[in-house]
Amino acid sequence: MISVRPAEQRDAGAAIDVVRRSITHLCVADHQNDDETLAAWLANKTPQNFLKWLSNTENFCVVVESNSRLLGVGVLHRRGEILMFYLAPGAQRQGIGKMIHTALEEKAAQWGMTSLHLDSTALACPFYEALGYQPSGPAVARFGVLQCFPYAKQLQPNYSL
Ligand SMILES: CC(C)(COP(=O)(O)OP(=O)(O)OC[C@H]1O[C@@H](n2cnc3c(N)ncnc32)[C@H](O)[C@@H]1OP(=O)(O)O)[C@@H](O)C(=O)NCCC(=O)NCCS
Repeated sequence: MISVRPAEQRDAGAAIDVVRRSITHLCVADHQNDDETLAAWLANKTPQNFLKWLSNTENFCVVVESNSRLLGVGVLHRRGEILMFYLAPGAQRQGIGKMIHTALEEKAAQWGMTSLHLDSTALACPFYEALGYQPSGPAVARFGVLQCFPYAKQLQPNYSL
């Protein structure tokens, strides 16, 4: 069974492994196998930093688990920004990204947010557009050859809260 749950400290090593493999192997169109770009992108993706992000009460971190293996990671910041969103290679196009997004969107609604925003990889643009995001500005150069694509989505008011 595939489930999404809040991340815990014990997940740090496996979660960062998912993130690093996702960037390295799935985001090739973004880093173009440029060594400097990849090194800069991966530089802060360490278990120590994951523990910091997890302990920040402004963040909501989730992982996707299947048969005790982590398949994905998502992090939402309380300012309405999705900071991280990565699946393990081989886990794409099974609805897992959508599951992570639903969990982050539900937390955003609980926090009373009216919109979400993020910087997408080139790879993920069609995914976010399928989830109702719209481009919110021109592509931004990040580092090396990496470009980010800003997106935003208005959330429905949550009248049940
Ligand atoms: C982007 C990513 C999170 C998408 O997750 P996913 O689990 O593959 O997406 P889902 O299966 O939930 O897809 C939901 C819908 O999004 C759209 N979609 C997802 N990936 C797509 C793609 N590569 N091309 C076109 N449409 C896509 C489809 O409409 C899909 O619905 P369908 O499969 O019924 O057609 C995943 O591919 C990933 O981790 N990529 C590498 C890391 C990355 O770029 N992360 C984004 C950082 S900002």
